Amino acid sequence: MLERHVFLIGMPGCGKSSLGKRVAGNMRIPYVDMDQRISDIVGCTVSEMFERYGEQAFRNAETNTLIQLTRETPSLISTGGGTVLRENNRAIMRNSGVIVLIDRPLEEILGDIKLDRRPLLAQKGLGEVERLYHERIDIYRSVADFVMDNSNGYHAGLRGLEQIMRHMGC
Ligand code: S3P
Repeated sequence: MLERHVFLIGMPGCGKSSLGKRVAGNMRIPYVDMDQRISDIVGCTVSEMFERYGEQAFRNAETNTLIQLTRETPSLISTGGGTVLRENNRAIMRNSGVIVLIDRPLEEILGDIKLDRRPLLAQKGLGEVERLYHERIDIYRSVADFVMDNSNGYHAGLRGLEQIMRHMGC
């Protein structure tokens, strides 16, 4: 049982969703994928939401989802790669939980990121992933309570995240 939320943050392609979903399942902890939650509510994919309503509408939905989550059972939560960009979002996460950075080296992200599912990146390509990484990495590191080094493959990542969750009382 978790006492507070655990928010996974980090770059697109760092492993927030794949690790989060699996660890929550293994440890029987409630799990929320924020992108999935938003697309279920809006009734379209995140890519379609960007196209139809624009990035600001999506960012507002992220903030509203975080506010809603503060009223729910403590869960393991995969955020979107840009959720940390708003100071307000950072404050909500800090006040309602613990923040874990899934820290994956840029070269590995570039090696296997699925651009087609990521509207901000799809048109601009890998150069944009690199630009976002350099723009965001200091923000990710400064807001994180824990940093999980995800440079040793998926299974080591699972173990690393499970260790942090155990530290949180799971
Ligand atoms: C975004 C990352 C995406 C999604 C949206 C915006 C970003 O989530 O929230 O496309 O700004 O980095 P992932 O980090 O799961 O790809």
